[in-house]
Amino acid sequence: TTIAAVVPAAGVGARMGLNHPKQYLKIGDKTVLEHTLGKLAQVPQLTKLYVAVSETDGYFDELDLSGLAVSRVTGGQERSDSVLNALLAMQSTAPDWVLVHDAARPLVEINDITNLIEQCLTHQEGGILASKVKDTIKRGTSHSEETVPRATLWQALTPQFFPYHQLLNALQQAQQNNAQITDEASAVELAGQPVRLVSGRSDNIKITTPEDYALASFLMSQQSK
Ligand code: C5P
Repeated sequence: TTIAAVVPAAGVGARMGLNHPKQYLKIGDKTVLEHTLGKLAQVPQLTKLYVAVSETDGYFDELDLSGLAVSRVTGGQERSDSVLNALLAMQSTAPDWVLVHDAARPLVEINDITNLIEQCLTHQEGGILASKVKDTIKRGTSHSEETVPRATLWQALTPQFFPYHQLLNALQQAQQNNAQITDEASAVELAGQPVRLVSGRSDNIKITTPEDYALASFLMSQQSK
């Protein structure tokens, strides 16, 4: 079974209020993206890493990625466009499965990744890392209109892992239908296919806001002990 990794890293980090993308923030002596790629490089099942970065990105080529089998591909307008571009870039040497992992999630643990891969391969269906919602969830704009029962609510994390052709078809279909999707799983769900929920660590956070960055820096310093 061949598995390629796709790392969408073409976001602009608008919610971080920065003039450079959040994946180039430093934690210790490495950027967030280098930490993330370093994690994926430790997963023996992954044969190749594709990183989607924006065309105008001047930082990526300066990274120290020596020893990693990494290809740069061009990102797109939305996250799903970036992932789709990466899938199209590998079409001539298509792997059996693809593992998509956010550049902005450097805290993912190798054990969680290999667990996701094993469970999905065993059951021969796609799946994602997810963690059970801990807070009480409200729906509303200025006032709470509803409290959503949380017993069956999960927070979708990455990696997200699917057969190559299933994900390619699902993303193309979502694009044609102009569907607003914020992860790969939602495209696969729209295509009517199953998405297995594999419990993962809730500290596999996506660095989105300055608070997330502070928390990620702390968690990373604990991990490397
Ligand atoms: O914007 P968000 O926090 O959901 O981004 C999740 C991941 O998707 C980040 O790693 C970001 O760099 C990436 N992304 C992308 N192309 C876009 C937007 C986001 O690759 N157009």
